[in-house]
This record gives sequence, structure tokens and C-alpha cells, in this order.
Amino acid sequence: MTLIGTPKESAKGENRVAMTPQSARDLQALGFECMIQTGAGKAANFSDADYREAGVTVARSAAELWKQADVVAKVRPPTTAEAKKARSGQTVISFVYPSDNKKLLETAKTANSTLIAMDMVPRISRAQKMDALSSMANIAGYRAVIEAGNNFGRFFTGQVTAAGKVPPAKVLVIGAGVAGLAAIGTAQSLGAIVRAFDVRPEVAEQIESMGAEFLFLDFEESGSGEGGYAAPSSPEFRAKQLDLFSEQAPDIDIVITTALIPGRDAPVLWTRDMVDAMKRGSVIIDLAAERGGNCELTKKDEKVVTPSGVTIIGYTDFPSRMATQSSNLYATNIRHMMADLTPEKDGVIVHDMDDDVIRGATVAHAGEITYPPPKPKIEAIAKPQPKKTEPTPEEIKTREIAAQREAGLREIGMLAIGGVILLIIGMFAPVSFMQHLIVFALACFVGFQVIWNVSHALHTPLMAVTNAISSIIIVGALMQIGSGSWLVMILAALSVLMAGINIFGGFMVTRRMLAMFQKS
Ligand code: NAI
Repeated sequence: MTLIGTPKESAKGENRVAMTPQSARDLQALGFECMIQTGAGKAANFSDADYREAGVTVARSAAELWKQADVVAKVRPPTTAEAKKARSGQTVISFVYPSDNKKLLETAKTANSTLIAMDMVPRISRAQKMDALSSMANIAGYRAVIEAGNNFGRFFTGQVTAAGKVPPAKVLVIGAGVAGLAAIGTAQSLGAIVRAFDVRPEVAEQIESMGAEFLFLDFEESGSGEGGYAAPSSPEFRAKQLDLFSEQAPDIDIVITTALIPGRDAPVLWTRDMVDAMKRGSVIIDLAAERGGNCELTKKDEKVVTPSGVTIIGYTDFPSRMATQSSNLYATNIRHMMADLTPEKDGVIVHDMDDDVIRGATVAHAGEITYPPPKPKIEAIAKPQPKKTEPTPEEIKTREIAAQREAGLREIGMLAIGGVILLIIGMFAPVSFMQHLIVFALACFVGFQVIWNVSHALHTPLMAVTNAISSIIIVGALMQIGSGSWLVMILAALSVLMAGINIFGGFMVTRRMLAMFQKS
């Protein structure tokens, strides 16, 4: 049976773990056996006993685990020492950041092991459940707001208290990707006034639907690049952007920056002048600190307070600061990746390099470096469609007149054809038949004209009321009810009963349906 094992993270301060008791249960359902290094889940609040209860074997050391496991799942990229432990045919799954870790790929190639990078899962709909970057960015966005609140001396929400009026905090989020949107949602739910900016104009709707204000930049340039990421901005655009931020700086209490284009250094968007222009006590959380930071004064992994009293936080371990939550999400991402690798749910790994997601995430396989992957066959996130040009009011009017004229001509044509057909039938058919036929044809025509112009939403009430009216046949039953024959009387009484149900039922349904359209 295939054994999947998770060692304790060796990086200092890393609290996350790649397997939780719940994910182990799910992995066992896929046909795997699970193993964990003793104490691996402790910092994320999962004890060895929890794992044992979930049917996981607890290994005494990392060496034992690496030796026995067929698949090793971890969070941080393997260290050189760890990578050397990988043996031929073994699969290692973790964050890899292959563009920065070329040596790791070489080691995997030499060892003939398979290396799957969770950070390389393509951002396509089918792979969302394995998208560990998004899971972690979501947590980072949330935690950024909580961290800001912890360092901000005021409420987020405005309050009127007996002791005085408190204004709401003003939060600016720069970069509305996964982390940015999570930050907007969190700050908004805490009651702050939230503004946001992104170079991709298509996110404006998302930002506004969350109740935040999108800061528009009046500039003829779209910052949208490929795969839902941004394209580098022109110097003129950047200058305009900085002007906009300079205007905002004195008014804003908390800035959360998340602006990044993958594979590039973070653009500096919050300059020293802007920091100085902020009020004393303001807070900046720079999520892009790992790549140099969006704020000019950010120090990676540090919290600094400027002489003007502005706190700047450049921590790069926000997900690790919420280890239980992030381990749960990351372990679930891993479990989904394993599900994709075991299509028969029998614990047998099928490494299908024709699968877009598996291909994208695999950076070393079968003695080859398989990074960078070819472009996925499926477009990552739909490119914005070019907007159709709106017709002018004159054009709309001309089109309406033309459509009305066309409909009128069609009606006259149909009436003429109907008339001719009736004339021909009338030449041969008996008079009584013709009377009925003409009434029938007119009823169809009037009925059609009445219903045609009724909006679709009202069709059901219309049907109900038509049903009620059609029970005019009750008149026939009433005329027969006084008949001498008991059989006719019974049948007539039954007809009255049924038609009555139709009439009252029809009107009742109509009433109820129409009530749904009435504003109370
Ligand atoms: P993402 O790619 O989904 O979002 C980045 C956003 O920034 C995009 O919407 C993009 O359009 C925007 N952007 C790019 N250049 C811009 C510019 N010049 N001006 C304004 N907006 C710009 O990335 P995601 O997943 O939201 O991550 C955001 C950042 O958070 C990344 O830097 C990531 O490394 C970091 N992160 C940090 C963590 C930490 O603990 N500090 C943890 C997880 C993520």
C-alpha cells in the first residue's frame, strides 16, 4: 500500500503542518496509509494522540519517515539536506518556488524523485480546490487586518458613546487579488471605511460588491495581464498612481499592500513621503515584504515604528501565525492533489503528465526537470471581453420603429392569408360550421394578442386566471342541473363542483402570485 508521510517542518518558526487528522482520514479513504513525525502537528494544535486516533502511524524521527514514505507531503520547500534524503521513485509535495530554487530541482533530477510544487498549481477553475497559494493568501489578507487592528489604537467601526464620538477607521487596500479581497472583506466586516485600488479595472465590480470604494484612476491603460495577474505598468501610469496615493495618505489610518506580479520584485507604491504624510498611530501592513515590499520603508520580517509614529509591519509568516486554520486548508489542498493523482481511489498513483493541473505542478519527474510547464490548454481566468459599443438613443428609436413596422406588415399578411382560407372553406362548408369556425379563429387571434405582450414573469398568474375564466362552462352545467333525469343531475352537480374548484382555485393562485410582485 502507498504510504504518505508528513515530517515536522524544519524551518524555524514554521507552525504549519501538511497533514491533519481529518486530511489523514480522507487520504485513507483514497487508499493511502498515513504516517506523521512525532510532534509535527503540535504547533498547529494537533497532538500525536489525535493522529493515532485518526489511524495515522507516528514515526519517531524525520529519518524514519523519509525512509518509509512513498510520498512525502510538507509545507516549506525541502532543505538541501531533506532533498538529499529523497530516493528514486519517491514523490515530494510542498511549496517549491521553482524559479528561486533551481538547485532543488537539480537534486530531485539526480535523485530521480518526483517534485510537485503546490505553488505551481495553475489558477484554473478545476484546480481551485488545490490552489494552496490562494488558501494561504486568503489567510494572510484576513490576518493582515487583525494584525493592523492589534497595532492600531482605535476602533475600526465608528461609534457614538456617552464619552464622545469615535470616527470609523479608514483602510486602504492596494492590490485586490486573493489577499487583498480577503483584507477588504475583513476590514469591511469590522466596520471600517474601506477603499481599494488595483491596476486591473475588472476587479472594481468585486470591490464595490463588497461595499468598499474602488479608487478610479483616470488613465487610458489597463493593467490586466495574463491568467488573472497584472501586467507591468508604464512609468506614466505609475506616476499617476503615486499622485493618487499621495492624496489619500493624510486621510488613511491603515494601509494594506498586496500588489505583486508573480516572478517580479514588488513595485514600490507607498513612498517615504506618503508614510510621513500619514497621521501618528497609523499602520501599514506590507504583505509583499517577501519580494522587497510595496512600502519604501518596509523591513522584511520586522515591525518598525517611524519617528512620525507610523507602524510598518513586514512579516512574511502570516499564515503560520494562524497555524491551525492554515494547516487545515493546506492539508485539504494536498488531499485534493492526491485525489487527482489517484483516479481509481485505490492508493495507486497515476502521474498523468497530460493532465493540465498535474503537469503544471510537477517540476521534476522521472529524472527530468519539468519546469517551466507549457501553457495550460485551458485559459486561466477568462480575459475580459471587449465591451460592446452601446447604441445611441436615436439608434434604439430607429430600430424600434423598424421592428414595429415589420411586425405590422407580418400581421396584415397573416390576416389576409387567414381571410382567403376562410373564404375558400366558406364556399363549400355548411353555414353553422362557418359560424363556429369564425368565432374560434377570432378567439385564437384575440387570445394570442392578449398573451403575447404579457411579460414572462406574469405567465403563471395569467394561466391561473385564464383557467378560472375558462370555467365559464359552469353555465352549461347549471342549465342542466334542473333536468328530470337523475343521471344528468348528478353529472351536472359534479361539473359545477369541479368548475367551482377551478374558478376559486384559479383566482386564489392569481392573487398569491401577484402578491409576490407587490412591494409591501
Ligand atoms: P494576487 O496575484 O492574487 O494579487 C496581487 C494583486 O496585486 C493583483 O490583483 C494585481 O492586479 C495587483 N497589482 C499588481 N501590481 C500592482 C500595482 N502596481 N498596483 C496595484 N495593484 C497591483 O496575489 P495574492 O495571492 O493576493 O498575494 C498577494 C501578496 O501577498 C503576494 O505578494 C504574496 O506573496 C503575499 N503573501 C504574503 C504572505 C505573508 O505572510 N506576508 C502570505 C501569503 C501571500
